[in-house]
Amino acid sequence: MILTTRAGTVGLEEAGTGVPLLLLHGFPHDRTLWSAQLAAPADGARLIAVDLPGFGESESAAVPSLDAWADWIVAVLDALEIEQAVVGGLSMGGYLAFALWRRHPTRVKGLILADTQPGADSEETRRKRVAMQAMVLASGVGKVAEAMLPGMIGKTTHETRPQAVAYLDAMMRRASVGAIHDALDALRTRADSTPTLATITVPTLILCGDEDTLTPLKESEAMHAAIADSQLAVIPGAGHASCVEHPAAFSALLSSFIRARFT
Ligand code: MLT
Repeated sequence: MILTTRAGTVGLEEAGTGVPLLLLHGFPHDRTLWSAQLAAPADGARLIAVDLPGFGESESAAVPSLDAWADWIVAVLDALEIEQAVVGGLSMGGYLAFALWRRHPTRVKGLILADTQPGADSEETRRKRVAMQAMVLASGVGKVAEAMLPGMIGKTTHETRPQAVAYLDAMMRRASVGAIHDALDALRTRADSTPTLATITVPTLILCGDEDTLTPLKESEAMHAAIADSQLAVIPGAGHASCVEHPAAFSALLSSFIRARFT
């Protein structure tokens, strides 16, 4: 559906009833990253998967930064009349969840940090982001999808789950040039969230595919060590896009976290 908010129009899909669970996709995805979770919503949860600014059916945000996007999330929650939500983000969605926690902690009831990491970009990664912006402008979205696909998915999925590979590839190819360009600005200018970890007081589930090479398991282990009320779950045979690669395992972990901590 399309939601009208004070920050513009937003594409989203909802499923289930219970505690609001806002799902934030990675780069360069859209809300269909969460299709399997929406098809079998966690017991006791109202899943809300949004298209982040510029992606899917959402308008771009005025400012391409994760802090501005965190304020944009609050506009979405306000339009849905949700005071507090559990916020789950995969990769870039996790970076955004950290920004939301810093700027609007009272709106966050719990966190799900999937295949993500707290650090800011290194200088080398920032240079790669700028090079990718030039590439998308010159050669289009297909080139970005080609560059991202190998790391987006784990070895086992590449070898044994062609449908999951095709699904993610098609999702990335649907992104617009403008959305990719803006998101790369938001990614390369994001703050270091490492000091934020010790400030997180809400129940937090950390999930990671054991074949994730983009945000490897050691990042999740470090987040688990630094976030007081956190639990870490490893998804075997999944890479970076664990919610697509092993949807049943991912959804089961999500369900038991919601049941145990919020119902
Ligand atoms: C993502 O999946 O959101 C991206 O890999 C994040 C990044 O490029 O840092």
